[in-house]
Amino acid sequence: MAEERTVRGALIGCGFFAENQMQAWQQLQRDGKRVEIVALCDRDPQRLAHFQTLFGIEATFTDANAMFEAFAGGGADGKDSDLDFVDIATTTQAHAALVPLAADHGVDIICQKPFAGSLETARQLIEHCKTRGVTLGIHENFRWQQAVRSTIEALRDGAIGQPFFGRISYRNGFDVYRAQPYLAEVERFIIEDLGIHVLDIARALFGEVDRLGCEIARVNPAINGEDVATMMLHHDTGVTAVVDCSYATRLADDPFPQSLIEIDGKRGSLRLRQDFTLEIHAIEGGCEIRDVRPESPAWSEAPWRPIQQSVLAFQRDWLGAQRQGRSVETRGEDNFNTLALVEAAYRAAAIHQTVVPERWER
Ligand SMILES: NC(=O)c1ccc[n+]([C@@H]2O[C@H](COP(=O)([O-])OP(=O)(O)OC[C@H]3O[C@@H](n4cnc5c(N)ncnc54)[C@H](O)[C@@H]3O)[C@@H](O)[C@H]2O)c1
Repeated sequence: MAEERTVRGALIGCGFFAENQMQAWQQLQRDGKRVEIVALCDRDPQRLAHFQTLFGIEATFTDANAMFEAFAGGGADGKDSDLDFVDIATTTQAHAALVPLAADHGVDIICQKPFAGSLETARQLIEHCKTRGVTLGIHENFRWQQAVRSTIEALRDGAIGQPFFGRISYRNGFDVYRAQPYLAEVERFIIEDLGIHVLDIARALFGEVDRLGCEIARVNPAINGEDVATMMLHHDTGVTAVVDCSYATRLADDPFPQSLIEIDGKRGSLRLRQDFTLEIHAIEGGCEIRDVRPESPAWSEAPWRPIQQSVLAFQRDWLGAQRQGRSVETRGEDNFNTLALVEAAYRAAAIHQTVVPERWER
């Protein structure tokens, strides 16, 4: 059997979160998955130099255009580029220029969430990638957290029958502003930055949403945006779900960064607890308890381990999808519907009414 070709990528954005993405790529490489990040790009030379030292990558660029030009032509199988993919880990504002730039060079794309600042831009980016024949996968990792994934799989396997109620709760008092100071400045905070992940878990569990209501609050006076949001979702499947998020919740045993899940179904109930147990309560009585603690990568550190494990799991799946020619679950078209829930939530909070979210329908 012919040996698998090494998939060659570049990382754009050498900031706070990208360190996890680089660690995960290099772990996959060490695990023999034949993937390699061959170039780094950041407009900030200091961050670039830091990543170059940390990850031992020669080729560095402060300008993404220059990077794509440097790799233009010479790709395997007659491709336009010697890069197979780009991992865009910048904040959202930069995506509207970087995604089309990569697509125009024939390079497949992974883009961090939120992948666009508006649904209109999201539509344009999806269409642009389609026209250029490149894939657009959104780095949406929360549904890849081992505990969350186990809950999704138990539900899909029919452990409690047809669900009718869900609650996905992310409440803690973590100082998220220390590593990401820009989060204290933004006008839209917890729904756009964190709620987007929790809303995506709701879609992974219960499918598309046909109505959404939302109330928000700012508890921390030192920030500009909302740090508390409570959303009620009605899904096409008939499930009613509550998605509640807070960075203003003081608990002695802080659950950061876990999402806790409750689901009631016609044949039983699921409870994902803070101690990484998944309880499956059956209609016949009794309760099965599964240990769903994440297998933490060697490079992970508390309290980030569940997130870092999910980054590795997402990227492993992306690589598998790339080799098998299948789409990742969180491709652009799918993630458009998660982004639409974010937009719907802000609108619902502004008008204090239920909103019908937009949906990808092309
Ligand atoms: N999936 C998750 O769990 C998770 C967690 C945290 C952050 N994020 C997302 O990751 C993204 C980055 O967040 P962060 O906190 O790491 O931000 P950051 O500000 O620490 O890093 C962003 C980096 O991108 C660089 N950059 C910006 N525009 C650029 C351009 N045009 N060309 C080259 N470099 C450019 C900046 O110089 C910076 O180094 C955000 O979209 C955020 O929402 C995701």
